[in-house]
Amino acid sequence: MSIISTDISKAVAILNAEELVAIPTETVYGLAGNIFSEKAIKRIFETKKRPFFNPLIVHIPSIELLPTIVSYIPEKAQRLADAFWPGPLTLVLPKQSSIPELITAGKDTVAVRIPNHSTTLDLLNQLDFPLAAPSANPFGNISPTTAQHVENYFKDAIKMVLDGGPCQRGIESTIIGFEGVEPIIYRLGSTSIEAIESIVGPIQIKNKKEIAPDAPGMLDRHYAPKTRTILVDNISDAIEKYTDKRIGVLAFSKPSEHNAIVFQIVLSELTDLQEAASKLYDALHQLDKQELDIIIAERFPDKGLGKSINDRLQRATVRA
Ligand code: TXA
Ligand code: MG
Repeated sequence: MSIISTDISKAVAILNAEELVAIPTETVYGLAGNIFSEKAIKRIFETKKRPFFNPLIVHIPSIELLPTIVSYIPEKAQRLADAFWPGPLTLVLPKQSSIPELITAGKDTVAVRIPNHSTTLDLLNQLDFPLAAPSANPFGNISPTTAQHVENYFKDAIKMVLDGGPCQRGIESTIIGFEGVEPIIYRLGSTSIEAIESIVGPIQIKNKKEIAPDAPGMLDRHYAPKTRTILVDNISDAIEKYTDKRIGVLAFSKPSEHNAIVFQIVLSELTDLQEAASKLYDALHQLDKQELDIIIAERFPDKGLGKSINDRLQRATVRA
């Protein structure tokens, strides 16, 4: 029996009973539980096989609730929240003492965002507590962008996937932390650097594991298919090196032709980066099912969401 359902009141009942529901957001599906329930939060880590030192993002339905989660809001954080919420931007700020250490992995900061998805906003508005929700995939795997992806991963290890359709943005939220009052990008994501800089001016990126070793989104290998994947500037040249293999191709806008290609996905014929981002993870899920020897992925233009797509493709190429 499928655990996929559109019934919000059922999701409310399950979450009130301290159990987990996978929820849709505009970025990826999240595996959600009551932030104040130790039982639910432990279950999130267990179900994902996620190490406890990796903190979770808190999801709230409105900006008025922000002061109940964080103890200090720098002016630039306020501006970013006003500009992008609800939306794919996560702010990391000093936590309120009421936020459990399990959520923040013992840190004195907490990550928080308002997701832009009507189903999940309805759900959050019917709950007396915020939801912690990491991406609903086993640790290190490709994030889910449909309810079916989540069910394929967890079967009946979770009670319910709340179906909100395919995720419109398709890549995780951009995460911004602060050094004092100055914002810093910790994870590239669905809100482009250019959009962020238009609100707060030039911003530094520190998304390397040397700087944030305890943040899994910054691990070298993440968002990774099981099939060996390489990232190249020129697909035709790469194909010539693997003509004896079963090749899968992940291209930005133009298909390639070669007998060795057994499966191919073009992300956006119109070269629309948002369209490409929204289809990226589903394409990786599909490619990974084809029993290929190698996935050859094309590098994207290094601007706007192209930077975020390249970041994910790069991490998909690192072998375990
Ligand atoms: O789009 C998203 O952000 C999705 C949807 C479901 O909201 N969630 C998501 O969660 O991507 P997750 O757990 O897969 O990634 C959260 C990232 C991790 O890299 C974690 O280390 C980082 O946020 N993070 C959480 N709290 C943090 C903190 N206090 N300081 C630094 N990084 C933090
Ligand atoms: Mg994740």
